[in-house]
Formats: sequence, structure tokens, C-alpha cells
Amino acid sequence: MNIAVVGTGYVGLVTGTCFAETGNHVICVDIDVKKVQMMKDGKVPIYEPHLDVLFERNIRQGRLSFTTDLKSAIDKAQIIFLALPTPPGEDGSADLKYVLGVANDLGKIITDYKVIVDKSTVPVGTAEKVHAALAKNAKEELFDVVSNPEFLREGFAVDDFLKPDRVVVGTSSERARKVMEDLYKPFVRQGNPIIFMDERSAELTKYAANAFLATKITFMNEIANFCERVGADVDKVRIGIGTDSRIGKRFLFPGIGYGGSCFPKDVQALAKSGKEAGYEFQIIKAVMEVNEDQKTSIIPKIKDTFGNDLKGRHFALWGLAFKPDTDDIREAPALYVIDALVAAGATVTAFDPEAMENVKKLMGDKLTFAKDEYEALNGADALIIATEWALFRTPDFDKVGSLLKEKLIFDGRNLYDLDEMKRLGFGYVSVGRDRVNIKATANA
Ligand SMILES: NC(=O)c1ccc[n+]([C@@H]2O[C@H](COP(=O)([O-])OP(=O)(O)OC[C@H]3O[C@@H](n4cnc5c(N)ncnc54)[C@H](O)[C@@H]3O)[C@@H](O)[C@H]2O)c1
Repeated sequence: MNIAVVGTGYVGLVTGTCFAETGNHVICVDIDVKKVQMMKDGKVPIYEPHLDVLFERNIRQGRLSFTTDLKSAIDKAQIIFLALPTPPGEDGSADLKYVLGVANDLGKIITDYKVIVDKSTVPVGTAEKVHAALAKNAKEELFDVVSNPEFLREGFAVDDFLKPDRVVVGTSSERARKVMEDLYKPFVRQGNPIIFMDERSAELTKYAANAFLATKITFMNEIANFCERVGADVDKVRIGIGTDSRIGKRFLFPGIGYGGSCFPKDVQALAKSGKEAGYEFQIIKAVMEVNEDQKTSIIPKIKDTFGNDLKGRHFALWGLAFKPDTDDIREAPALYVIDALVAAGATVTAFDPEAMENVKKLMGDKLTFAKDEYEALNGADALIIATEWALFRTPDFDKVGSLLKEKLIFDGRNLYDLDEMKRLGFGYVSVGRDRVNIKATANA
């Protein structure tokens, strides 16, 4: 099939590349001239594991190309994917200007039948708005609008796309349904379902999934906060409840809050959609409030340890990306931690394997950057861990201890074993677990 993907970000580029991998001809369109030039030069503009191999192969074999010109891109395409941003507007609702803007442009240029697929995360009722935007200029028999929300996870995007748990397709058109079925067949050979439904239910499925996962994380963060007050160990509680198959083991790891380009904005947008429909989501409201506090929940613990005064203190920070295996820093908790430390008069040197360039662009000289995880530690009063990159899981603790001014770690991701920290003589403060060696270190 000939496919056009409009918007070549984390979702669009993975979508386009993976469809090319199954033999389709894909042209990716973006308005970012620099990004398109980079891709034309054979460079992947984002960090996403395994994407580079597929990207290079499909360009080499002539199935994947890039342009800034929407009209030429859609000329031959039978299917047009919209993988455009839906950032939060000022009131928290999803801003549809990119999606509807492109739908409007498409209406003016399509001349034969196209399936227009919305892959962006959009509120209930958007397929109808896209349809209306197209219908302003195009005859209705020239297009069908399909809602096909994307569930890939950054860091696992290629694997998730190639082997999805399920594919959700919202459409009321038999013709479009057949096209989508043929397109996705190669991805569900192991029997995972393509679930067909109406457009509205498909749109809500995506928000419900993200809101549920954000709730699960947040629930566990609250349990962790409570553990700290009553002397229970959240790791034990996590295993204790996660082994119940009704609960499941995943998304139960406590930490310094969820971030990223999806959960925060999607949870907020669902709350806003609820309000617009006259329904107040109580759980969602609480999730947002708890997560807001959780992002800087490590700060009072640090202040506590330093007699409530961080002026002139210097911290090493490991991890900037909102999660491991991505360079995405949108709504990353690490950034909130940096802001709070700097506001309290401290300085920060950070290391992240992939996200430093993006943070440099955003925060400039608010912090300094190290070339590796050990250089970041030089002369720091303590180490703070904000992202659970695999690299940080088994460091050379002798080296860590010798480079830090004090053997003191604030771990926002619970990477280390309490007994080991005790044995190694580190002051260690994590989430939902006992503080280790903390009096001895703080008084040192
Ligand atoms: N990132 C994720 O993990 C993820 C997962 C599932 C769903 N989603 C959803 O997918 C959508 C896209 O997310 P993303 O993370 O890929 O966004 P992104 O910001 O990484 O990429 C969007 C791209 O669209 C381009 N663009 C903007 N306006 C354009 C236009 N008029 N024509 C062509 N290109 C244009 C931008 O230049 C950018 O390259 C969002 O709705 C998001 O919520 C994201």
C-alpha cells in the first residue's frame, strides 16, 4: 500500500518506518524543515532503540522517504496517518489546531478516495470534527475518517508497534475497516486482536488506558508515601499485591511521579473533557494533584538531611529523561527537581545517556552537564537519581563514594538494595522505604 504519515515525531516516525518494514511505501511529511533534511540525510532525529536499523534499511530499499510538501506526499497515498501533536491548551484540553489544520488542508487537495487515520491522541468527538474539516472542501465520498489510537511506549516503540498487544480501530465505514485490517494483519500474526469499534469509543479507549496507568502509578506512590510514615517497606508491599493476578506486577514501582509527553497531558485532557460533558472525574483530579506533589517529593527529604538549607550545596543528578531509553524530556520529573534545587540556592551537575542535548536547549546554563555518570559526582554533596537508566543500576560504589563529598544518595527510583547500602556505608534515602545510615551521614 502507499501510505503518507503527517507529523514525523516519536509516533509518526515509528509508524512510518514500521509500515515500510512490512512492505508498504511510506512517505513521511513534516513542517520542520531541519528535521526533514536530517532524515533525508539518513539520520534518525530522535533516540528510540532499534529504530535506526529499520530506518536505514527501508530508506535503502526505497520504501521510506521524507518531504515537507503535503500535496505531493498524499498524491499516491491510499491511507493518510495524522500523527500530529495534541498539546494541552491553556485550559488543559487537547489543542486540536494541528490535527484540524492538516484536515482542512487535506480537504482542499484530495482528489481520489483516501482513508484518513487519526493516530494522535484526541478527545471524544474529534473524528467528527476532522470529518467536518475535510468536508468543507472535499466531497464526502472521497474519504473516510478512522480513529486508530497508538499505544506504543517510548523506549520500546518499535517492538510495541511491530508486536502490539492490540490494535484499536474506530470506524463506521466497511471500506475503511477492510483497508485497516489488511494494513495491520502482518502485525497481529500471533493472534493479538484488531479491535474494531465506533470512533468515539476508540478515542476514549486511549485516554482511559493512559488515565488508568497514571492512576496505578499514583496509587502506588501514595502507598509509598504512607510506608515512609509508618515504617513499612513499599518493595515488600509491591510484591505482596503484585502477585495477585487481578492487580498485576506492572506499573507498581513507586518513584518521583510520572512525566512524559503523554500521561500528564492526557490525564489533564480527560478531566477537561469530563467537565465539558458535565462530569467531574474525582479520581483523575486526585491523580493529578498527587503527581504534582510527587515530582518534588524528594526535595523535603534532601532539605531534611541538610538542616533545611541547600544554599551553596552542589548535587550530582543521574537521569534527565522522563524515563529510561528515551531522549524525551517533556514533563520529566528531573526538571522539576532541578528547578526546586536551584530555587533553594543549590547547583546541579547532571548526566543522562541520551537527554542532555534536549535539556541544554531548554534550561541553558541553569545546570552543568558531565560527560559520564562518574564525572557528575565530582565534589558533589550528594547524588540524586531521577531516571532509572540500566546504566545506573550497578555502579562502581567505591568510585561513587570516593568522588562524592559525602557518601549520600537520594534515589527517586529505588534502584538499590537497602542492605547493600547499609553495608557499603552510604546514607541512602529512597521512596517508601527506610532511610539508611542517614543520621551518621548527615552529622558527618
Ligand atoms: N510519544 C508517545 O509516546 C505517544 C504515544 C502514543 C500516542 N501519542 C500521541 O501521538 C501524537 C504525536 O505525538 P509525538 O510524541 O509523536 O509528537 P512529536 O511532537 O514528537 O511529533 C509531532 C510532529 O508533528 C510535526 N508537525 C506539527 N505540525 C505539522 C503539520 N502541520 N504538518 C506536518 N507535520 C507537523 C512536528 O514538527 C513534529 O515533528 C500526540 O497526539 C501524542 O499524544 C504519543
